[in-house]
Amino acid sequence: MNRDEELRYKAYQEIELHKDIVERDPHRQHYHVVPPVGLLNDPNGFIQWKGTYHLFFQWMPFDTTHGAKYWGHYSSTDLVNWSLEPIALAPSNWYDKNGCYSGSAVAHNGKMKLFYTGNVKDEQNNRETYQCLATSEDGIEFSKQGVVIELPEGYTAHFRDPKVWQHEGSWYMVIGAQTTEEEGCVVLYESPDLEKWECKGQIAGPAHGDNLGYMWECPDMFALEDKDVLLFSPQGVKADGVLYNNAHQSGYMVGQMDYHHSRFHGSSFVEIDRGFDFYAPQTTLDDHGRRIMFGWMSVPDDQEAHHPTINYRWIHCMTVPRELQLCNSKVYQTPIEELKQLREEPTTIANINLANQQYVWPSELDCASEIEIGLNNTEEMTSFELELFDCITLSYNQHDREFSLYRNSLIHDEKESRSCHLSSGLQSMRLFVDASSIEVFVNDGEEVFSARIFPSHTNQDMAVRSEGTVNVDITSWTLKQ
Ligand code: FRU
Repeated sequence: MNRDEELRYKAYQEIELHKDIVERDPHRQHYHVVPPVGLLNDPNGFIQWKGTYHLFFQWMPFDTTHGAKYWGHYSSTDLVNWSLEPIALAPSNWYDKNGCYSGSAVAHNGKMKLFYTGNVKDEQNNRETYQCLATSEDGIEFSKQGVVIELPEGYTAHFRDPKVWQHEGSWYMVIGAQTTEEEGCVVLYESPDLEKWECKGQIAGPAHGDNLGYMWECPDMFALEDKDVLLFSPQGVKADGVLYNNAHQSGYMVGQMDYHHSRFHGSSFVEIDRGFDFYAPQTTLDDHGRRIMFGWMSVPDDQEAHHPTINYRWIHCMTVPRELQLCNSKVYQTPIEELKQLREEPTTIANINLANQQYVWPSELDCASEIEIGLNNTEEMTSFELELFDCITLSYNQHDREFSLYRNSLIHDEKESRSCHLSSGLQSMRLFVDASSIEVFVNDGEEVFSARIFPSHTNQDMAVRSEGTVNVDITSWTLKQ
């Protein structure tokens, strides 16, 4: 066996060995993308290719901590039902031996091409970084082509996560980087053929007055309506009131990409998700013209070690796929339409008249549920609260228009919260609940809160209450596995 075969064989063994315990976990997700075993982090190489969606993921098969990552691979024809495919990339070469780190996929001349970062460390833990290429004829087996870009001057070895796209006949690549002054930025490359790449310098970052942390990871650039969006995950942004409270953030700037001068002219940075667990998102444009995003439903932080799923030899998952749209220069997110396939019979109760009291939902909810809540006649309402299971509270305060999600802390015996401001008040919520997560889409995707939660599942109740009067419509669905 060569090194590549050996690494693959070991990873497959790990799946076989632990598949029973992984499936026994009461917190194993029902409809979210999860690793077969071990640790999953960033979505990679997300593409619809020859009609099939491919979603690759950062994968550590041998442990529930980070390490020399593989690219795991799922495929789907509907973005709902996913099949595990053979391992796409294993860290078997000198240029990626400490991890086939994040990257992206493009289709070219009937082939699928993966661009990823080869992470290399020496005995003293010094890092090297290489941007690499792998090609596939069938979208299943990939042959590595080796290094296409080496580290340019002016940046540290924190230079990774290539995202490639085509614009007016040229190929472009954005890379997340750290300058030698230890400031985060995004660097642009251009290529006529996906092989020879020319560095065009920083398109956003300190050279253009953007001072936001010490490293930007996982950049993505795409057009929405008549604007361009630069999505990235900056590290080292300090908390500021309700903003930037996670260990690391993900968000975007909206503006215009000036391809002639290699510059992105954008707005200030906006967090794309307001919850506890969202990082390193990646998008693709599908055949229906939809811009679809997956995020990693976690953040690299000290909470990871406290996830109870570790006892069942797996950790982390993706968010549901979300369609992105631009509305008044703000990115709105909607769960993709196909997720409606998961719905079983609805239970609807319309026009619940809440006036300073509590309404308890008449049936127990399944641990995999979708819940839609519409609020009408809110003029007299001063606050609204929804309580779910034994661990989640959503609350809205009309006075300062603040919406918050509270969950039980994974580390301490107390509640913790994330909040944001809703400039036009609270009109609706759509909740996607799974065995160990909740995603709350507020006001048709104006704001989204993603969080991992670990309910005991002994309490499957939901209750709503208000101060002041409001009419509420609620529909719930159990979601199929
Ligand atoms: C983001 C990240 C990327 C890197 C990958 C390694 O979560 O740190 O920058 O490529 O994860 O798994």
